[in-house]
Amino acid sequence: MTTMTKPGEFAEDAAPAASDAFLSVRDLYVRFSTEDGIVKAVDGLSFDLERGRTLGIVGESGSGKSVTNLTVLGLHNPATTEVAGEILLDGQELTGASNRTLEKLRGDKVAMIFQDSLTALSPYYTVGRQIAEPYVKHRGVSKREGRERAIEMLEKVGIPQPRMRVDDYPHQFSGGMRQRAMIAMALVCNPDLLIADEPTTALDVTVQAQILDLLKDLQQEFGSAIILITHDLGVVSNVADDLLVMYAGRAVERGSVRELIREPQHPYTWGLLGSMPRLMSDVTEPLTPIPGAPPSLLSPPPGCAFHPRCGFTDLVGGGRCATERPELPDGRGSACHLTGEQKRSVFIETIQPRLG
Ligand SMILES: Nc1ncnc2c1ncn2[C@@H]1O[C@H](COP(=O)(O)OP(=O)(O)OP(=O)(O)O)[C@@H](O)[C@H]1O
Ligand code: SF4
Ligand SMILES: [Mg+2]
Repeated sequence: MTTMTKPGEFAEDAAPAASDAFLSVRDLYVRFSTEDGIVKAVDGLSFDLERGRTLGIVGESGSGKSVTNLTVLGLHNPATTEVAGEILLDGQELTGASNRTLEKLRGDKVAMIFQDSLTALSPYYTVGRQIAEPYVKHRGVSKREGRERAIEMLEKVGIPQPRMRVDDYPHQFSGGMRQRAMIAMALVCNPDLLIADEPTTALDVTVQAQILDLLKDLQQEFGSAIILITHDLGVVSNVADDLLVMYAGRAVERGSVRELIREPQHPYTWGLLGSMPRLMSDVTEPLTPIPGAPPSLLSPPPGCAFHPRCGFTDLVGGGRCATERPELPDGRGSACHLTGEQKRSVFIETIQPRLG
């Protein structure tokens, strides 16, 4: 880990490339100073993402999903935020990059679809102007060309009569249309990396499915790498190639969607699967929520942060879960003290029958 340093204090070209992946996040720590103390929002997170692939990041509210991705974009307040670790995009170190470098990347090489389209779109400018803006800025084209591009993008994301709707203000669009407009804005420069933060949460199921299809189509066309953040393992398992399960600012399980859905290894992932209706379409019984609530990140539990909610600590024994933090191995694996054999047998004998 790099020593805890405020953003901007790193030399721009200081860190050597640690991985060949298009995006490589290594030992990322993000801490907020608040009146109540230090919030450890991201606490030693590592992951890689290749071009043309989709990584799903799942976890309950407050697990650090949005903060991780806002940090990749450099969208944190340096006065109250400490960031350490490495974020390498195409070999370029972003943790200490200057605002100018980040400004150049944002909206061009890297774009984000935010959790809430109302906060991402300004009510004072037309939808078309907002879609065109990054294109005009990064491509240096005229406003007229920008407007034509906005119309083209509105059409791509399935807005009917785009030439007429391009001059509408966001409030004249429905929630689903605003979400599409935000996707159009994010994709206007064909970004190499697209971060979609809960892009469908506020939408009804049909529109959700259309938007997810759209992301897949656009990925095929542009070959972008996508990070899809969601609470919903059902949604992500239809769209993503790989999954990262986050709990209390750390990754607790990682693997391909196939591996992770077929044989999840971590008790927290089991809990998430048990509380997801979508994966068990023929089950009508009430689903089992994970007991308790996610911990405060002001003082996360010692040892395995999940231990106060975990039903398997006795299998590990010796009080290890409460004192010794389990590490996530490289590649496919989970951060849990259960042995590989215990994970497999508990899942097959106890968890799988409950999932149906
Ligand atoms: N600017 C901030 N100052 C202080 N704490 C913050 C700040 N931003 C986020 N946090 C805290 O960091 C933690 C992680 O937040 P984050 O927004 O990443 O969660 P999330 O996983 O995206 O949750 P959700 O699913 O609800 O969007 C939370 O405890 C949150 O309260
Ligand atoms: S390390 Fe212990 S508390 Fe954490 S998930 Fe595994 S069994 Fe549960
Ligand atoms: Mg979030």
